[in-house]
Amino acid sequence: MTRMSHVLAAVAWPYANGPRHIGHVSGFGVPSDVFSRYMRMAGHDVLMVSGSDEHGTAIQVKADAEGLTPRQTADKYHAQIVSDLKGLGLSYDLYTRTTTPNHYAVVQEVFTALYDNGYIVAKTQMGAISPSTGRTLPDRFIEGTCPICGYDNARGDQCDSCGNQLDPADLINPKSKINGETPDFIETEHLFLDLPKLAPALAEWLDSREDWRPNVLKFSHNLLGEIHERAITRDLDWGVPVPLDGWRDAPMKRIYVWFDAVIGYLSASVEWAKRQGDPEAWRTWWNNPEALSYYFMGKDNIVFHSVIWPGILLGADGRGTEGGTIHPALGDLQLPTEVVSSEFMTMKGSKVSSSRGASIFVGQFLEEFGADALRYYIAVAGPENQDTDFTWEEFVRRTNFELANEWGNLVNRSISMAHKNVGSIPTAGELTAEDEALLAESRGAFQTVGEHIAARRFKAGITEAMRIVGLANKYVSDMEPWKLKDDPARRDTVLHVTLQVVSDCNTLLTPYLPHSAQKVFEALGGEGVWAAQPDIVEVTDGEWTYPTLQGDYASQQAVWESRPVVASTPLAKPTPLFAKLDEKLGQTGPSWAPIGD
Ligand code: MF3
Ligand code: ZN
Repeated sequence: MTRMSHVLAAVAWPYANGPRHIGHVSGFGVPSDVFSRYMRMAGHDVLMVSGSDEHGTAIQVKADAEGLTPRQTADKYHAQIVSDLKGLGLSYDLYTRTTTPNHYAVVQEVFTALYDNGYIVAKTQMGAISPSTGRTLPDRFIEGTCPICGYDNARGDQCDSCGNQLDPADLINPKSKINGETPDFIETEHLFLDLPKLAPALAEWLDSREDWRPNVLKFSHNLLGEIHERAITRDLDWGVPVPLDGWRDAPMKRIYVWFDAVIGYLSASVEWAKRQGDPEAWRTWWNNPEALSYYFMGKDNIVFHSVIWPGILLGADGRGTEGGTIHPALGDLQLPTEVVSSEFMTMKGSKVSSSRGASIFVGQFLEEFGADALRYYIAVAGPENQDTDFTWEEFVRRTNFELANEWGNLVNRSISMAHKNVGSIPTAGELTAEDEALLAESRGAFQTVGEHIAARRFKAGITEAMRIVGLANKYVSDMEPWKLKDDPARRDTVLHVTLQVVSDCNTLLTPYLPHSAQKVFEALGGEGVWAAQPDIVEVTDGEWTYPTLQGDYASQQAVWESRPVVASTPLAKPTPLFAKLDEKLGQTGPSWAPIGD
C-alpha cells in the first residue's frame, strides 16, 4: 500500500457487566489491534475507538444480582475492562464508555436526524411482563426455542446458535429465566427504525462490498433478505432518554442499548477530537469518502453492524426511500468499508462465554502468561474463519515450540553469540549466496505479510512471519557460527546477517507481539519507544470522572520496512523473551481455569 489513508478501526464495545474472557478478545480485541498497529506502521492515519457498552438489560440485570445501581455496576466493570484491555496492549486512540454526556448528546443528535428524515415510526408492540410481579421482563431473561434455527436456549434478544436478533415474542415456548413462568405479553408503544425504507440503499451498499470474509458477506446478504422494522426503544429506566416530546421524561422509556451502542463509534470519535483540542477532527474519518472504516467483532454482532448501523447512517444521511437531508451538524456520514467478524472461540465445542459458564478471564490469563502469548495464540490458532476450540494443550504447544523455541531462541542465541564474541553488532564482510537469499526472504516478507494483514488475513500474516523465523533458524544451524572461531570475519558476517533478519522479523511481528517487540528492539541496542502502549487516563466530562485508554502512537519508532542494523551498536547479554511452560499444564490447565463443560 503506497497511498496514505485515513483508517477508522471501530472495535465492538464490550458490555460492562463482567470481566472479559478470552473468547471476547479473540473477536474484537486482538484482530483490531494487529490491524491498527500494522496500518500505523505502514504510514496510515489510524483512529481506533471503542468503549464500554453500559446500558440495557445486561447491565440492569447484573446490577440487580449484585445489589448495585446500574451506574455502580458499569463503573466497576468498566474499570476492570479498561485494565484488561490495557494489559493486552490494545492500542486504542480512545476507549471510553456509553454513559458520558457526550455520548448521550451524539446519540440524541443521530436519533433526531433519523426522525426528521422520517425513518423512525411509532407502533404498538407486544412486551413481556412477569405475571407474578407485573414488572417488565428483560429480553435477555426470556428463553425459548429459536424460531429460525430451532435452538432450545435462544434468548429473547438473540439466538447464540444462529446469531439472529430476536424479539421475545418470536420465541417458541418462552419462559422467564428468573422463575420459569411463562411471560404475559401486553401492548406497549415503541419507536421503530423503519429498515424496509432503507433496504434498497442497504442492498446497494452491501452489493458494492467485495472482499469481506465470505461467511460474513453471505450472512449479511441473508439478513437483508428478511428485513423488517426494528424497535429501538425499550420499557426500561436505564439508557439514553428519547429526545421527543412525550417521551423525553417518560420514566420507563429508553433508547434500546444496541441503537445507542453502535452510535458509540461516532461519539467516541467526537470525544477523541475534543480531547485533541480539535473538535472537528473526527470529520476526516467520518465525512470523508476516501477514508476507510473497519469494524471488528465476534459473529453474534454482525447484524448490528451490517444492517442496523449502516441503516442508521443511511437514514441520517437521508438516503432511504423517504428521502431527507444530510443533518448539518453530522455531515454526510460514511458507511463501513468492512464488517470484520470472527467466529467463536469454543471450549470442547461450546462457546467460551460467561453466560454459558466456561470462562477463561483475560485478567487471570495475562497475569499468569503475559499478553503476547495470548495474542499469539489468538492470531495463529484463533477463530478467524471458523469456530475453533481453545485447548490448553495447544496453548502450551504454541507457546513452547513456536514462541519460545523458534522465535525466543533465535533472538536469544543470535544476540548472545554477538555479545560474547564481539560485544556489539558485528560488521558484515562480503555476502555469500546463502546470506543474500535469507536477506531477500526477510525483505520480501514486508510485502507479503503486509498484504495479508491489510486484507484482514491475520493468521496468514503471522504464519508467513514465522516462516521467516524458521528460515533464520535453519540458516544459523547450517552456518554454525560457533564453529567459525578460526574465521572471525565470516563468523561476524553470519552474525550480522542473522541480527538483520532478527530485526526484520521483529518488525514483522510487532503488530502481533508489541510487548516482546519492544524488548527485542532494546536488546538490539534500540532506545526509546518502538511499539507504543495505551495508557489509562482519568478524564472528566460534566460531573463524571472515569478512566479511559489513550495513547501516543504517532511518535513510536516502529515503521513497516527493513531497517539496516548498525554495526558496532553495543549489545548486552540478553534475557529470555518467553518462559517455557510446564508440559503438564497442557493436560490440566491452570488451577483457576475451567477445563471445559
Ligand atoms: N456489547 C456488545 C457485546 O458485547 C457489543 C456492542 S458493539 C457495538 O456483544 F456495536 F454496539 F458497539
Ligand atoms: Zn437460532
